Amino acid sequence: HLKYRAFAPIELPDRRWPSVQITKAPLWLSTDLRDGNQALIEPMDPERKLRMFQMLVRIGFKEIEVGFPSASQTDFDFVRLLIEQGHIPDDVTIQVLTQARQPLIERTFESLKGAKRAVVHLYNAVAPVMRRVVLGMDEDQIVDLAVTHTRMIRDLVAAHPETEFGYEYSPEMFSNTELAFSKRVVDAVTEAWGATPERKVIINLPTTVENATPNCFADMIEWMVRNIERRDSVILSVHPHNDRGTGTAAAELALMAGADRVEGCLFGNGERTGNLDLVNVALNLYTQGVHPNLDFSDIDDIRRCVEHCNQLPVHPRHPYVGELVYTSFSGSHQDAIKKAFSVRKDGDVWEIPYLPIDPKDLGRSYEAVIRVNSQSGKGGISYLLETEYGIELPRRLQIEFSQIVQQVMDTHGKELGAADLWQIFDREYGVKQ
Ligand code: KIV
Ligand code: ZN
Repeated sequence: HLKYRAFAPIELPDRRWPSVQITKAPLWLSTDLRDGNQALIEPMDPERKLRMFQMLVRIGFKEIEVGFPSASQTDFDFVRLLIEQGHIPDDVTIQVLTQARQPLIERTFESLKGAKRAVVHLYNAVAPVMRRVVLGMDEDQIVDLAVTHTRMIRDLVAAHPETEFGYEYSPEMFSNTELAFSKRVVDAVTEAWGATPERKVIINLPTTVENATPNCFADMIEWMVRNIERRDSVILSVHPHNDRGTGTAAAELALMAGADRVEGCLFGNGERTGNLDLVNVALNLYTQGVHPNLDFSDIDDIRRCVEHCNQLPVHPRHPYVGELVYTSFSGSHQDAIKKAFSVRKDGDVWEIPYLPIDPKDLGRSYEAVIRVNSQSGKGGISYLLETEYGIELPRRLQIEFSQIVQQVMDTHGKELGAADLWQIFDREYGVKQ
């Protein structure tokens, strides 16, 4: 039912193009309240956390990582508040992170008491530099660390049948790790959890620090998809960061390479340059005719909420949401947009040049689509007069009036809105009398 044309394949002489496309939405996990929160100058207080959680639910996230309860009392208390005050809808699963240490795992289970459903997320570093320099452990010890604590979680899960538990394991720094070793750890974890197609394990592969072009990550994911044991018992998740500015590309290529699930944050909050921007990937899918199963129909409301919770601004040119992304200052762009709007009918596929998405789909209005400054031409000027004041200028008058407007702008150098144009029009042609 989307009005967007799935990216139309065009014939190349010697091959099909594009060779791969994403044809369905992945599973999504928001880690705004965990990875996003831990990177904030001022981590969220309970009021901001709850506001963020409720907004994530409204958007349609079914899996939400809500904190690291064994590492922070605030996170512990927040998990308790969610459970005790009944904030978790029946179809939403909360997830919590833990390190591979018995007391921390026990504390994690304590935080989850009474939850209907939850995922326990265990991580440990696997990369050579972490083994050698930070942990001082060899490969066997790392495998043992992951397996021992996976078994511990499996046993605690069995002891708490009142909660429906899932399990996620992340080999931290996967993208810096030898593939054969990552496979060894992951296979051992899958086995230790006792994964079956009915009781899958989530294996989450992060670019903890993005360190190569995104195709390298996708190649690694493809290799894992083809080589890990019990693929049918594994939900393969990716967790890109954005150190090279290619988090979105890494996620998209990873999905094309066979990943099932994506972790990230709204508008790309997170450590350093951020986690993968979930909104970006979801709306990229949307504009290719694939519904992401997430609702961004009031994107400004979401932006305001995220800005309040994170206490960080969203850039005016941020894809899909920035204040300036549905504006067009150049005259030729404005002209093209105006022409395309004038022939467009409801139900048509979206084919407006220079606008990759209908702003209306995100709750943005057409009013802001055309702005007029010293770079603009007659198209934008007459479009604004027509849509805002119902004045349809004949072509000769469009040219004449746009010259007058240009003079005003050359003098003042300021951007003009519809009301300014109306005033100039009135002054020149005296329409009010
Ligand atoms: O980036 C990372 O490696 C993480 C893990 C805990 C999954 O956040
Ligand atoms: Zn991370």
